[in-house]
Amino acid sequence: MSSDDLKKRVAEAALEYVQDVDVLGIGTGSTVGYFIAALSRIKHRLDGVVSSSEATTHQLQACKIPVLDLNAVGPLPLYVDGADEITRHLQMIKGGGGALTREKIIAAASEQFICIADQSKLVDVLGTSPLPVEVIPMARSHVGRELLRRGGQPVLRENFITDNGNLILDVYNLHILEPVKMEAEFNNIAGVVTVGLFALRPADVLLLGMVDGGIETIRS
Ligand code: 5RP
Repeated sequence: MSSDDLKKRVAEAALEYVQDVDVLGIGTGSTVGYFIAALSRIKHRLDGVVSSSEATTHQLQACKIPVLDLNAVGPLPLYVDGADEITRHLQMIKGGGGALTREKIIAAASEQFICIADQSKLVDVLGTSPLPVEVIPMARSHVGRELLRRGGQPVLRENFITDNGNLILDVYNLHILEPVKMEAEFNNIAGVVTVGLFALRPADVLLLGMVDGGIETIRS
């Protein structure tokens, strides 16, 4: 079964969690793309969706699913998103698609966070994937030096501007044994908008598409 097949299956499985909600938040990425396709079949039951990126907004509009402003709808019952890496404690690295800031805002404003991912994303220790850090442009060099001092290897994501007009530093060489501590510490570097560690607010449920065709469910 290909990675795309696994993403599609897990996206379908997430629909079960959308039975009793009329508004939800949605992340960004290829797994979420499959979820939006599945969601469009039940869109008549929804008032709309809070989107985490321009890319997701375009996909929702293409499916004629109303896109709502988070400020207009208040706390959300549910947020569905993918991850670049996730542990069994449901802490994640996110931001491969560069949408980490809006994703973190919607996750924080949601009662339940369901992560949908294929089996390859499950890790024992976070840090094999680079850790995306969104940075205010004038702070790029300063933040880069601070990340180097902390043992990371920051690399500017080429030709990429976030939906918020900022830059992304992808930080390599991290073996993240204390994700909560690192998230708080990196967040505190002046010029950092968001760090793509989701440990202070982990997922509540992980739906994992397994290569044997099954879905493993891990709850916090
Ligand atoms: C985007 C993200 C995505 O959830 C993450 O990159 C996983 O993407 P995909 O579903 O394409 O593997 O954090 O900012």
